[in-house]
Amino acid sequence: MSAAPYRHIEVTPLGPTFGARVDGVNIAAPVSDEAWAEVDRAFAEYRVIVLPDQPALPDRIVDWSRRIGFTEQHIDSKYLLDGHPEIIKIGNLKEGGVMKSLFVNAREEWHFDYSYVAKPSIAALFYAVEIPPEGGDTLFADSTAAFESLDEDEKARLRGLTAIHSWARLHEQLEAMDPTRTPLSDEAKRRFAPVPQPLVYRHPVTGRESLWLAPQVVSEIIGMPEAEKDELLARLTAHATSPGFTYRHKWRKGDLVFFDNRGTLHTATVFDYERYLRLMYRTTILDVAA
Ligand SMILES: [Fe+2]
Repeated sequence: MSAAPYRHIEVTPLGPTFGARVDGVNIAAPVSDEAWAEVDRAFAEYRVIVLPDQPALPDRIVDWSRRIGFTEQHIDSKYLLDGHPEIIKIGNLKEGGVMKSLFVNAREEWHFDYSYVAKPSIAALFYAVEIPPEGGDTLFADSTAAFESLDEDEKARLRGLTAIHSWARLHEQLEAMDPTRTPLSDEAKRRFAPVPQPLVYRHPVTGRESLWLAPQVVSEIIGMPEAEKDELLARLTAHATSPGFTYRHKWRKGDLVFFDNRGTLHTATVFDYERYLRLMYRTTILDVAA
């Protein structure tokens, strides 16, 4: 952790090795360059940042996201926030029996976002509009500290490995769980053809290495028999998501949380969606303009 003090914001660590709450900024007001520089530094250091008690101002949520990178420009989704195509609604919001948000809390699955495209998302931002009184937490794992804790021989061996990430593989599992889901079109299969990713990723900002794990999406580790690949991914995922490397975020309405996809993993968790409403605004952040 850095020794430099924070003078414009208050930073309180949340997890065992990562994650911090930041107080002293409100997205409704302009943020000084000095305060933003400290938020940016805290983001590099802690990688999951929680700003509590923020107002539901979509323009400001988009503006804040654009300080981190480029926001994904959705062309066509029925779940975009009216007037704000950078924001997708995530949750179980229904109107007239029709789902009005993208529902993702059906199961738990560790991943980093968009691992199945050549340039995965660098970060994501969530704003809690409505939260259930129980369940629906987000779990984060410090895949950076988890890698750094391995012995040097294993680090060296893992650095040489390349994983193939396949959207079609994930889609097949989703189809098996939900027979009403339409199979991927040939065009989508071409567009989301499997891509190679390093198993160990070096963060371009911090220079720290992390385990790039998304076991449900990885179809292959190049040169490794399937059973060995399954065993390796299961073992590394269990290590990286063990209590010493995880932080459970229990949401409060008004929380604004952004996290680094290049140095952490995350998973949604289930909640009772028949009883409770959960609704988040989400932006997806890229390192190039989409
Ligand atoms: Fe995700």
